[in-house]
Amino acid sequence: MQTNLRGRDLITTQEWTKDEIDTIIELAMDLKRARAVGREHSYLRDKVLGMLFFFSSTRTRASFEAGIAQLGGHGAFIDSVTTQISHGDTAREIGEIYGRYFDGIAIRQCDWGVGNAYIREVAAASRVPVLNMQCDIYHPFQILADLLTIIEKKGDPRGKTIAVSWAYASSYQKPLSVPQDLILLMGRYGMNVRLVHPPEYALMPEIVDQARENARRAGGSFQIMDNMDDGFAGADIVYPKSWGCWLTTEDTATSATIGHKYTDWIADERRMALAQSDAIYMHCLPADRNIEVTDALLDGPQSVVYDEAENRLHVQKAVMALTMR
Ligand code: CP
Repeated sequence: MQTNLRGRDLITTQEWTKDEIDTIIELAMDLKRARAVGREHSYLRDKVLGMLFFFSSTRTRASFEAGIAQLGGHGAFIDSVTTQISHGDTAREIGEIYGRYFDGIAIRQCDWGVGNAYIREVAAASRVPVLNMQCDIYHPFQILADLLTIIEKKGDPRGKTIAVSWAYASSYQKPLSVPQDLILLMGRYGMNVRLVHPPEYALMPEIVDQARENARRAGGSFQIMDNMDDGFAGADIVYPKSWGCWLTTEDTATSATIGHKYTDWIADERRMALAQSDAIYMHCLPADRNIEVTDALLDGPQSVVYDEAENRLHVQKAVMALTMR
């Protein structure tokens, strides 16, 4: 267990050692137990987390706000459109100024080619920890919750096969952050990682290279596939979700046309039956019901999506308690 994480930013888990990530998971389990039995755990009394959102959220906002309150502190929700950012406040100014008001700054900025750079600029100017609530490249708190869920449901992740598959959705061109962070982190835990997608939906090459290297070092494996059925076959964990074809085109109309070629990439009971009989279905949500995944699978016995969503709360409390003391 690592005990010197005070003041650390969490922008990507790639910048945290495996020992440090293990510490987050251990503390998250302890905090989950504490909440279940009503054990006092107000480790951040009077601390304030500033939560700056450039993009909508159901789970991230609610779980961070509940989490900091349960730790004895307060969450200040700030919608970017209500600020003076569009009138000139720079990332550096946000870091300097919010760093003086708050004990931690959490940011969601998912704009392609912008989000991660913005969060890093704020972090460089801030005297307090900066937490990435999702950018264009990473979604670290989602992936930590996913890791905790896999450990709870499947035990030791080593040697387990996870299929991180693209699925069709019609709602909008989603960020690459969830699949990218999944292939990065699960390989570090010795899993056999399958990345499954049509050719136009490639992830960032540097992330794919890091994911391959992470798996190699941890004794796992990394494979890119282009057939959803093959990806599901024999898997222990399936994580099919939509993402945008950002590396192919940033044009909304063109991306919609490309997506229409693959409307049969849906997670359904037939595909789930190709996986291990005790396989679990995961999704970060929101999902396009009956387009991206059928109701029967999403609401069925192999789905762990609500436990997965709950675990956002526990891992976020762990990171806040470790970094914002
Ligand atoms: N999974 C996730 O980040 O959900 P929200 O977009 O609702 O926060």
